[in-house]
Amino acid sequence: MIVTPLSPVMGAEILGVDVAHVLGDSDFETVRRALLDHNVIAIRDQHLTPAQHVAFSQRFGDLMVHVKAEYLLPGQPEVLVLSNKKHPDGRAMGFEDAGRYWHSDMSYVDEPPLGSLLYAVEIPPEGGDTLFCNMYRAYETLPNSTKKRLVGLRAAHSYVASFEGKTSSGYARDTLTDEQKAQLREVIHPVVRTHPETGRPALYVNPGFTLRIEDLPQDEAVSLLDELIQHMTQPAFQYRHVWKPHDLVFWDNRCTMHHATTYDPSFARHMHRTTVRGDRPFAA
Ligand code: OGA
Ligand code: MN
Repeated sequence: MIVTPLSPVMGAEILGVDVAHVLGDSDFETVRRALLDHNVIAIRDQHLTPAQHVAFSQRFGDLMVHVKAEYLLPGQPEVLVLSNKKHPDGRAMGFEDAGRYWHSDMSYVDEPPLGSLLYAVEIPPEGGDTLFCNMYRAYETLPNSTKKRLVGLRAAHSYVASFEGKTSSGYARDTLTDEQKAQLREVIHPVVRTHPETGRPALYVNPGFTLRIEDLPQDEAVSLLDELIQHMTQPAFQYRHVWKPHDLVFWDNRCTMHHATTYDPSFARHMHRTTVRGDRPFAA
């Protein structure tokens, strides 16, 4: 197995491993270590059935089932389909414009995913790249005065609010049914979280789902969130993933955010995602 950094800020590609079959402990440990060291890993040239994708993902923990049930793979609900393809009857095969704003997956639940594994089944010849930003770096480079101000702060995250355009993303697209809304509620997480495996602090707010900051008047919360978002999304902290066919990209949601980009909709983009449950965020 060969692990090669993809940018100075984060990201690595892994060649020479086939995750369709059960990895030996030492290969598994190499992949796990690469994720912790590089935050985003692109495992190249994979040929995975949905069951193999699920089985590899489960080595890292229990899988989560996304609330948007209409986009789960039939018979394999641990797989969320992101796609602009249509069934013959015109129904969407997947979530077409998922994640076109900065976010950390499912930060709106109590135990958000430690990571997500997105598999490129079909990609357009260009466009549809995924941007990532390094939230360790974002935290470390804050002025000391801001770091002090963030101590003990906690923020509310909500998926429903994002659909209603109430988070700072203001990006409303698909909808949630009343039944889906009933499965969701606001959750509270520390603004700075300690990564449970590396012990490093990382910013943990995102414009997609972070609604407000506990105990701060909303105008102050909005201006603090804006300031943090401005800081953490600067190009110097970003890695742009340009997809290759058969990439399996695994990112650590505890120390990164990501952002989907657009592409020419006359080309197909069809991806499968699994999501591995993580710990409840804490600040040490
Ligand atoms: C996701 C996501 C981005 C993309 O799968 O969680 O945000 O580029 N995807 O498809
Ligand atoms: Mn996402």
